[in-house]
Amino acid sequence: MTILRISDADVTTTRAQALVVGVAKNDELRIVSGALPANVRRSILRDLVRIGCDATVGQTWRIPAPVTLAADSVIAVGTVKKPDAGELREATGAAVRDAGAVKTVAVALPSPNQQSLSAVCEGALLGAHVPLRVSSKQAVEAPGTIIVATTAPRSVRTATKRNAVADVKATALARDLVNEPPVSLTPVAFASTAKKQLKNLPVKVTVWNIERLEKESMGGILGVGQGSANPPRLIHLEYAPKEASRHLAFVGKGITFDSGGLSLKPAKAMETMKCDMAGAAAVLAATKTIAELGLPVRISAYLACAENMPSGTAQRPGDVIAMRNGTTVEVLNTDAEGRLVMADAIVLAAEGEPDAIVDVATLTGAQMIALGTHVAAVMSNDDSLSEQVRASGASVGERFWPMPLPEALRAGLTSRVADLKNIGEPMGGMLIAGLFLKAFVPDGQPWAHLDIAGPAWNDASAHGFTPAGGTGFAARTLIAMARAGGAN
Ligand code: BES
Ligand code: MN
Ligand code: ZN
Repeated sequence: MTILRISDADVTTTRAQALVVGVAKNDELRIVSGALPANVRRSILRDLVRIGCDATVGQTWRIPAPVTLAADSVIAVGTVKKPDAGELREATGAAVRDAGAVKTVAVALPSPNQQSLSAVCEGALLGAHVPLRVSSKQAVEAPGTIIVATTAPRSVRTATKRNAVADVKATALARDLVNEPPVSLTPVAFASTAKKQLKNLPVKVTVWNIERLEKESMGGILGVGQGSANPPRLIHLEYAPKEASRHLAFVGKGITFDSGGLSLKPAKAMETMKCDMAGAAAVLAATKTIAELGLPVRISAYLACAENMPSGTAQRPGDVIAMRNGTTVEVLNTDAEGRLVMADAIVLAAEGEPDAIVDVATLTGAQMIALGTHVAAVMSNDDSLSEQVRASGASVGERFWPMPLPEALRAGLTSRVADLKNIGEPMGGMLIAGLFLKAFVPDGQPWAHLDIAGPAWNDASAHGFTPAGGTGFAARTLIAMARAGGAN
């Protein structure tokens, strides 16, 4: 992994292949940097004007460095005049992605305090994370060292760096898991990865195989998994530090591949469906980092893993299954499988009587219709929990927007043959999926459902601090929630 250094040395004498500055435009172009003398800014500006730089946010321009700098080149990234933490994270990420496999990148975006310094460090490391490739050719490499030039007080630097490195490691793990081809990341492989990742950490890992899933009445996970040659698994992680003041339960959707089952998806829609375990990946990665940091919060995590395939043993539209709490569900569309595995895991999570359940899932295409690919949805039975998710997400550059759970749509989930059916009326699909899950949450149990279908995956092009492919979305939000929880 790329090495991060935070330095208050004079950035003009810092040797680097590239020096990152911001550039913004109101009436005229200006350099956005905390650490550069006026004459150097003027010189950089002159060259940027010459090559037609218009400071479009998120775009980058490269020029040879002025002779007064020890760096070889300057990367200017478009941003705003006074970027906030979120804008700094995005800008730094885009610039470091553009720098590519150089030995050293220096970053001279403004970082006068702890919050901005965190954002710049996170953005830099997130932008430096290069997705793994399965290729006979040599892999694309990341920068060797990133030097963040800062004016922030020394007292905040050590903790800021430790937290940024830890958080980005979680996002990187979640991205790598999402990018792994579904042939190698089956539910069984997910379970051994979880064990390997958590080895030597104070986290207990329990894996339920088919026999155990049957004994434990996990009808949803079994039903979804029964069509695949790769059997389903429920992976339970327990982190229970003595000094814990709060108990959070995380539930992750771990569909290692979603073909749709017998309600088969069209070919195009299937291309990205290895990303359907992004929720479970975020939960595993966050739990690992929370344990590594030793945060004083108890975490019970549940990864509901199955492969959704069509076959002679697959569940059929019209089948009725019994979930863990006895509720029966008529499965009318086998492509609405996420809610089936999640419902079982939510029932199980609630049995531990946590202070809150947070479930994370690439649950619906409707989420992407409603909010696009940069903003995830949060649906909850508890306004303060929903606000905690939103605020924690905002603090790490992951946007969540609250969505309602309108009781009027519940009627659409009524079945003539079972307690519920797994699809409702045609419109409002994200909310209906949320209402389905809500039916499995016991009264009085605070619960939030995070639908991350859009933000979990970048189709073709990278943006800001996220590469193409898996983005690792939600891992850092869960860590931020645990941090806040420990402080309460
Ligand atoms: N995994 C999909 C949702 C999804 C779609 C995630 C696109 C990421 C990108 C989910 O299992 C699904 O297929 N949902 C259906 C539900 C429908 C059949 C009620 C959907 O959203 O179309
Ligand atoms: Mn599906
Ligand atoms: Zn799915």
